[in-house]
Amino acid sequence: MAPPLRTRITRLLGIEHPILGGGLMWLSDARYVAALVNAGCMGFITPRSFHSDEAFGNELRLCSDLTGGRPFGVNLTLSSRPEANAAVQRWLDMALAHGVRIFETAGHAPVELIDTLHKASAIVVHKSSSIRHALSAERAGADAVALVGMEEGGHPGTNELPTMLMGALAVDRFRVPVVLGGGIGRGRQLAAVLAQGLDGVLIGSRFLVCEEIGAHRRYKEHLLNCDEHSTVRLLQSLGNTWRVLRNDTARQIDEIERAGAADHAVFGELISGQTARDHCYANGDWQRGMLSLGPSIAFAKRIEPLKSIVADLLEEARASIACLSSLEQE
Ligand SMILES: Cc1cc2nc3c(=O)[nH]c(=O)nc-3n(C[C@H](O)[C@H](O)[C@H](O)COP(=O)(O)O)c2cc1C
Repeated sequence: MAPPLRTRITRLLGIEHPILGGGLMWLSDARYVAALVNAGCMGFITPRSFHSDEAFGNELRLCSDLTGGRPFGVNLTLSSRPEANAAVQRWLDMALAHGVRIFETAGHAPVELIDTLHKASAIVVHKSSSIRHALSAERAGADAVALVGMEEGGHPGTNELPTMLMGALAVDRFRVPVVLGGGIGRGRQLAAVLAQGLDGVLIGSRFLVCEEIGAHRRYKEHLLNCDEHSTVRLLQSLGNTWRVLRNDTARQIDEIERAGAADHAVFGELISGQTARDHCYANGDWQRGMLSLGPSIAFAKRIEPLKSIVADLLEEARASIACLSSLEQE
C-alpha cells in the first residue's frame, strides 16, 4: 500500500489516506465499503439500499468480516419529510449495536441526530452542498464536514457553486476538518485540495467503475465511454436537483419537467430508484433509470480493483505535491 498521506481527517477517522467514498444508493454495500477501508480510506454503507433490516444487518456483519474488524462507516441521509426518517433511528440503533462509530450524515438539519450519535461516542462527518448548512452542522457538533460542489453526482441541492470555489470559501470558515467532494477523480485534484489547506476529498462517481461496485458490467463499460458532458442536472424546478447520466430516462424526465411538472408523482416509475436498480445496476440497461453520476466519470479509463484507483490517486497527488515544492527552489 502507498505510504500514508496524513491530515486531520485521517487522524479523526483512523485511516491512512485522506480519501472518503461517499454513500452510494444501491451500490455502497459491504463489498465496496470494505474495499475502501482495506485500501486505507473510509466508506459508508447506505442502509436505504437494502430491502429489510435483516439484509442491512447481514451487510454490517459481512463488512466486519471483509475488513477483519477494521472500522467502517454508515450513511444516514435525512429527508425533510419526517415520515421518511422513521427508519433512520432503527438503522442507527442497528449500526451502533454492531459497533459502528463513524457516520456520514446528509440531508435535512441533522441536529438531533448529531446529538444522539455523540451520546454513543460516534464520529459524525456531515455532508452538505451549502456552506451555511455545513456551518450549522459544525455548531451542532459535527466532527468534520464534507462540502460538495455542483459537480457532485446525485443530489447537489440547490447550490450553484463549483467545488473549487466552495473549498476556497470554506478554508477560513470552519474549525473542524473539511473534505471536498464533487468532480474529484484525479490525484492532482487531491493535491490541490490539500494545497488549499483542506483535509481531504470525498469521491463517488470516479469509483463507480471499480470491480467491487455491484453494478452490471455493461453499465461500467458504458461509463468508460463517458466524458465530462455525459451528465445532466434535472429537477431543479422541483427543488430536488439531481445530477445523472444522460440517457433515455433523463431525456424523458427533462421533457416532462419542461412541460411544467408540478410534483414528483407526475414522473411515476421513471423516477423511482427501483427502476435504476432493476434495469441498470442489475441488468445493465443504462438507458433506464435516473442514474446518479457526475462529470468526474470522464477520468475513468478501465474497470479495476478499487485499491488500484486509490494507488493512482495517491501517486499523482504526491507527484503534484513534489512539483509544487520544487517551485520554491527555482
Ligand atoms: C450512484 C450514486 C449514488 C449516490 N447515493 C447517495 C446516497 O444515497 N446518499 C448520499 O448521501 N450521497 C449519495 N451520493 C453522493 C455521493 O456520496 C458523493 O457525495 C458524490 O458522489 C461526490 O461527488 P462525485 O460524484 O462528483 O464524486 C451518490 C452518488 C452517486 C454517484
